[in-house]
Amino acid sequence: MSGSPIPLIAGNWKMHGSRGFAEGLAGSLAGCMSNASATAFEMLLCPPTPLLGEVRDAVGTSGIFIGGQDCHTAEHGPHTGDIAAGMLADAGCAYVIVGHSERRADHAEDDAMVTAKAAAAQSAGLVPVVCVGETMDERDVGQAVAVVMDQLRGSVPVGSSGDTLVVAYEPVWAIGTGRTPTLADIKEVHDAIRLVLADIADEGDRVRILYGGSVKPENARKILNIDNVNGALVGGASLKAEEFWAIAQAV
Ligand code: PGA
Repeated sequence: MSGSPIPLIAGNWKMHGSRGFAEGLAGSLAGCMSNASATAFEMLLCPPTPLLGEVRDAVGTSGIFIGGQDCHTAEHGPHTGDIAAGMLADAGCAYVIVGHSERRADHAEDDAMVTAKAAAAQSAGLVPVVCVGETMDERDVGQAVAVVMDQLRGSVPVGSSGDTLVVAYEPVWAIGTGRTPTLADIKEVHDAIRLVLADIADEGDRVRILYGGSVKPENARKILNIDNVNGALVGGASLKAEEFWAIAQAV
């Protein structure tokens, strides 16, 4: 669709990898990227923080972006173990994932905290990838769209735009399970997100809306073809260069 934002294929490595693994995976993808004559997508790798340096060096000048998996709401301060958005920017990041359902569950992050993290990211010059998604129970009782719209309105900083915000729709029950919503269900949620973005963001039609949850080379083409799906946030399949590259090729 002309005028659509350029798709973003993002890899969320979660808590996986080592320096050697990172160099190998990022290096392979950088090779694929550099050999491709033209790419119709942007690629983003979000490794664990200690591996950012290796990934940054391995992607080199290939054009692959790097990002963090979380940031703190504050610029600095007495927050042992936390990482400020500015530190990620300093390490070479352009993006940071915020509000992933694993962080919402493991660290009791609510929408207000996710908004504050996204705002901190924007202040540091990073683009937050704000994650939203319903549980299976919520879908079962017909509340998927309502829950996701609520999270979206609660998790996006005022004044966000296509240049300063990416949204990722990730049904909690689809993450790491091999199960995905039907194409119609994905379309329903993405269309609804697009409508809300028109209301809460500047030029909301330019904000990229990624789908995440068990994206694989086998289902990527159909998912990425859906209107208002502007890329993918990929977990498991982003840990293998050939699978992640195949997903990017499905754009
Ligand atoms: P998955 O994870 O691709 O392994 O389902 C997606 C995510 O959690 O971002």
